[in-house]
Amino acid sequence: TTKIILDCDPGHDDAVAMLLAAGSPEIELLGITTVGGNQTLDKVTHNTQVVATIAEINAPIYRGVTRPLVRPVEVAEDIHGDTGMEIHKYELPEPTKQVEDTHAVDFIIDTIMNNEPGTVALVPTGPLTNIALAVRKEPRIAERVKEVVLMGGGYHVGNWTAVAEFNIKIDPEAAHIVFNEKWPLTMVGLDLTHQALATPEIEAKFNELGTDVADFVVALFDAFRKNYQDAQGFDNPPVHDPCAVAYLVDPTVFTTRKAPLDVELYGALTTGMTVADFRAPAPADCTTQVAVDLDFDKFWNMVIDAVKRIG
Ligand code: BDR
Ligand code: CA
Repeated sequence: TTKIILDCDPGHDDAVAMLLAAGSPEIELLGITTVGGNQTLDKVTHNTQVVATIAEINAPIYRGVTRPLVRPVEVAEDIHGDTGMEIHKYELPEPTKQVEDTHAVDFIIDTIMNNEPGTVALVPTGPLTNIALAVRKEPRIAERVKEVVLMGGGYHVGNWTAVAEFNIKIDPEAAHIVFNEKWPLTMVGLDLTHQALATPEIEAKFNELGTDVADFVVALFDAFRKNYQDAQGFDNPPVHDPCAVAYLVDPTVFTTRKAPLDVELYGALTTGMTVADFRAPAPADCTTQVAVDLDFDKFWNMVIDAVKRIG
């Protein structure tokens, strides 16, 4: 099994990432850390507790940072709604899962420092503020971590601007720190996650499961589809965040390409853009790669199996 820390901002697709991590025997979910992103920290932390309650996820939950390092708070209300996890056909319970007292940044550092080197993977699916602060506070985590597999960025398309993706655009300085560390880093960007569409056929498979957690997933997809149609002209919503978790379940779920990566901080039009250098074969010491082609069936079967296991 692979030990992971999921750093997230639920978020419809972050919720699915939590379910995939919790329901996959290949993964040991050491903890869930929250970060201000899709909505305020209070709202996304509450949503994390709600998802953990619905799916009976016992991994501890830690609150992280409220705002980007430099820039003002900006939330994704048109995609995730006022609550950050807007949902219509499912009644969300009052959470019974509590939040730990330790700060997310300290949990991340302590967990990586107290486990064997090379055994804990970080899976960020929100802005990279917690991760950037953790590696600045304790730089040794960069060589101790197994790898960082993050949802964010893209090498061709953006969604928050023409060329920048939300998680990176919200806190580009944090992303710059994370992309320039020497840890192995896989960027699961929009080029990949726009292949992970929750089509009606996929939704029907969850419907067939007939469990409470599957009903929750179907309601998440319905709300997410509506918002993606209205805000970004998609027929079906791209379910970004579980793609990063899926790579830890089985790395053959998508192909990758090695490339030097960096984050634009100063562009008039391009701030928050992730820049991949594909000009030549990547140098031997390149530690970064991008996700390219998704195995659609393998991915969705993985998520369906995880939801089935949760019961
Ligand atoms: C990313 O932004 C958020 O809205 C989603 O949860 C995902 O992490 C996609 O750009
Ligand atoms: Ca997210």
